Amino acid sequence: MRQLSEPMRVAVLASGRGSNLEALVAARDRGEANIELVLVGSNKADAQALQRAAGHGIPSLHLDPHDFPDRASHDAALLDAAAAHGAEIVVLAGYMRVLSATALQGWQGRIINIHPSLLPRHRGLHTHQRVLDAGEREHGASVHFVTAELDGGPLIAQVRMDVRADDDAASLAARLLPLEHRLLSAVVAIIADRALVWAAQGPVFHGRLLDRPLLLGKDGLGLHSAPSGQAGGS
Ligand code: GRF
Repeated sequence: MRQLSEPMRVAVLASGRGSNLEALVAARDRGEANIELVLVGSNKADAQALQRAAGHGIPSLHLDPHDFPDRASHDAALLDAAAAHGAEIVVLAGYMRVLSATALQGWQGRIINIHPSLLPRHRGLHTHQRVLDAGEREHGASVHFVTAELDGGPLIAQVRMDVRADDDAASLAARLLPLEHRLLSAVVAIIADRALVWAAQGPVFHGRLLDRPLLLGKDGLGLHSAPSGQAGGS
């Protein structure tokens, strides 16, 4: 059994750039997240995240989906590799595939994902443009537990940001990204500290069932309970 002071062993799955992975490395190095990064896995051979992992001395693994008979067996192979490296939790950080229900068995409450929208609004791709198209004045990012439903698992925390009159999709993405990094690092930190745990009923934070996502503070530091009426991007 892991002692509380021991770092939580974390695997990251990523398909691309890997800036969220970099943020986790930085949070670890600053002592803000008590984690050990045990593996970075990807479905893409050229994912920059794999190069970043190598640069930080983190084991990395590319598994080509074409080498597997179906999606579930590819997912299972990546998650089995995470388990073989001792991962207690898996962070999806720009992992552009939906994990299948069969592969997720045994991982309930141990996989989280970061998504660039105020879920449940705007699941899937092109979230920044969709926020603009809908004329919304607020945007943000969400971290949630992963289920087999695309961007659909129980919410843990969100960060909110105003949409400006002159914003386009690129400016929204650029302004949101550093907030995503802080949000993901903060969530991983509270999981590593066991302040946030998965229970049969859903996510529990400091002993209380989360009935709405936590919010990242305006200073970008710390997660706190949202006032009622601010739940889930409604
Ligand atoms: C982030 O915007 C994340 O929210 C989304 O994919 C992007 C990944 O960026 N799921 P990076 O690969 O971590 O730089």
